[in-house]
Amino acid sequence: MKRDFLRVSDLTKDEISALIDRAIELKSGKDASACPLIGKSVGLIFEKSSTRTRVSFEVGIYQLGGQSISLNPKEIQLGRGETISDTAKVLSRYLHAIIIRTFGHDRIAEFAENSTIPVINGLSDDHHPCQILADLMTIKERKGKIEGIRVAYIGDVNNVTNSLIEAASILGFELVIACPEGHEPSYEVLDYARENKGDIIVLRDPREAAGKADVIYTDVWVSMGQEAESEAKKDRLKGYQINSDLLSCSNRDVTVLHCLPAHRGEEITDEVMDGPNSAVFDQAENRLHSQKALMEFLVK
Ligand code: CP
Ligand code: NVA
Repeated sequence: MKRDFLRVSDLTKDEISALIDRAIELKSGKDASACPLIGKSVGLIFEKSSTRTRVSFEVGIYQLGGQSISLNPKEIQLGRGETISDTAKVLSRYLHAIIIRTFGHDRIAEFAENSTIPVINGLSDDHHPCQILADLMTIKERKGKIEGIRVAYIGDVNNVTNSLIEAASILGFELVIACPEGHEPSYEVLDYARENKGDIIVLRDPREAAGKADVIYTDVWVSMGQEAESEAKKDRLKGYQINSDLLSCSNRDVTVLHCLPAHRGEEITDEVMDGPNSAVFDQAENRLHSQKALMEFLVK
């Protein structure tokens, strides 16, 4: 039975923990020459821009011995109106897995329902689960553990936040979200947290969130596809920048994360991003290792 990875909650706590441990092993070079994807082909369909996700997956597939096939959505028949379900059924006959970055989460869900191969979400409007695997790996590297730590997510509540909420609920870390009024997480994701006893606090004051945090996390204020409302959003989020002033009210050894790409000078300053607390480039590197662990697990 194939398994998909469309949202963090598609994996159990034990599975996520094992993937993170495996990713750390792969990074250290252990069993790095194992090639579980020999003879296998993995497709990539990206309907939005990407640097990290696309390259880390393509390199990861190569390092695992497989073939990656990048399918420009404008050059395949999907872009001319072939249905998602027909595309999914046909590609399942050739490929062993597919990575999709798209807009509405329903598009990737429909693809997965009609596929007989694992479908991996490389970002949708609602979730970014592969990002969170790398984030958890980075937290484990920096803090030695994940359970019980306090993460402050400050800024725009988006696909990354939704995936963090699911991860916090599954893995048992505290997540404090500081966002302006009207930017709160959706009921759907908060209900998921409640049902799974997630320790999620939503508040307004970024300083209060940063106060006792072990990790401070932010993301762009305007996600891909939201460009039309960008000026109004940036205005509402002005007080939520991660800067030295905010860091001065957190622990000295707080780790700063950003999934990237960053809009330097908006949600984060150069000083913080390039400063001693920042782990953002390790976090970006860890996309490669954690996704290799994910593909070892999913692609049969
Ligand atoms: N963090 C992330 O997903 O980056 P890309 O948009 O460059 O893939
Ligand atoms: N929230 C951002 C993440 C980019 C990796 C976006 O969706 O554009």
